[in-house]
Amino acid sequence: MAKPASNISRQLSNVGAWIDERIPVSSFWKAHISEYYAPKNFNFFYFFGSLAMLVLAIQILTGIFLTMHYKPDAAEAFASVEYIMRDVEWGWLIRYMHSTGASFFFIVVYLHMFRGLMYGSYKSPRELVWVLGVLIYLVLMAEAFMGYVLPWGQMSYWGAQVIISLFGAIPVVGDALVEWIRGDFFVSDATLNRFFALHVIAVPLALLALVVLHLAALHEVGSNNPDGIEVKKNKDSQGRPLDAIPFHPYYTVKDIFGVGVFLTLFAFVIFYAPEFGGLFLEPDNFNPADPLVTPPHIVPVWYFTPYYAILRAVPDKLAGVILMGMAIMVLFILPWLDRSKVKSIRYKGLGSKILLAVFAITFIRLGMLGMGEGTHAQTIESRIWTFAYFAFFILMPFVTKYEKTRPEPERVTK
Ligand code: HEM
Repeated sequence: MAKPASNISRQLSNVGAWIDERIPVSSFWKAHISEYYAPKNFNFFYFFGSLAMLVLAIQILTGIFLTMHYKPDAAEAFASVEYIMRDVEWGWLIRYMHSTGASFFFIVVYLHMFRGLMYGSYKSPRELVWVLGVLIYLVLMAEAFMGYVLPWGQMSYWGAQVIISLFGAIPVVGDALVEWIRGDFFVSDATLNRFFALHVIAVPLALLALVVLHLAALHEVGSNNPDGIEVKKNKDSQGRPLDAIPFHPYYTVKDIFGVGVFLTLFAFVIFYAPEFGGLFLEPDNFNPADPLVTPPHIVPVWYFTPYYAILRAVPDKLAGVILMGMAIMVLFILPWLDRSKVKSIRYKGLGSKILLAVFAITFIRLGMLGMGEGTHAQTIESRIWTFAYFAFFILMPFVTKYEKTRPEPERVTK
């Protein structure tokens, strides 16, 4: 019985060798997985890169199945989503996976970005990894915004109306630009059609390409770690970094554990709280779009609300749009604002620690204010936090240059 099995495995390895001579599968596997040396001190925060890839895969897969039943037509879109929820077999599960997946994507990406801020992963030589990450974040926001329009509920419609009209604040070309984006004189079937095309194919392709570049850029220089030291500096006689371990099997196994915990939480939300108290699916979006009835209280989904609070904090529309744009764009130059000798927050001074803590609180508070009704008191408070948001970036070059840092250790600690 042993003989046929060994024959099969020999034939399989022959096929493998044949492919390998034509496409370098095994050298790719070695360079990026089995012999990619990653620092051995990765902690909890290092789960979120692989989890972001998992959520991306879930979104693409569930998106394909939703597309089989969804109708990108202003007269049918809302009803087709209801049809998916009620009549398509397992349709409710696919739809809730996709809608919950959108929010989980942002939770994962925000934690992934926060890790970068904590450990100085944006600093040289990983500036490009960070810049590509910010591009991914921008594209992800566009993807989520357009996806939210597709169910053609009240919030889809009026959210699109508010966000697209922001472009109208741009002098001279504003009005023409708004018309061009909508493809009509108002948000209409033409708008829905183009958003569908962009959401299901154009933007996901861009996202995938950017993720490939993000990882290629990372693997070129190697991963950072919670100590912020370059593991490539200490190598053994065979040229292997002493403080690093092969990605496979060590981190593949660790990441599978992270995936298990993630999927448990994900399933819990999908099965028990898919609307998540109106945060993941807003109550107004269970009413079909009505161009004649403006909802009293239009706010975007939670992951956009920090920026929405900044927009509303400014009385002038154009100034608000510019400030909101700057709040996102400033992330691109972060690698050049940090002038510290060390990367990780562990060895930075008290000033940097306070800056980062206040920044995290600011982002969350702005997010909460952006969900509010925009009362006078909320507007005043938003102004204070908007100031704090930009203070993080303005103060960073000075604090990081002049504060007293602790020396980085030679080798990784824990
Ligand atoms: C679809 C979204 C994204 C995916 C799939 C993704 C994927 C990954 C993966 C797999 C890693 C390596 C594992 C890890 O370090 O956790 C990584 C590292 C990194 N990512 Fe992302 N990423 C995404 C978005 C972002 C964003 C939005 C930023 C920042 C704006 C960012 C910045 C970084 C940085 C700086 C590193 C290097 C971290 C280090 O070595 O300490 N990524 N990313």
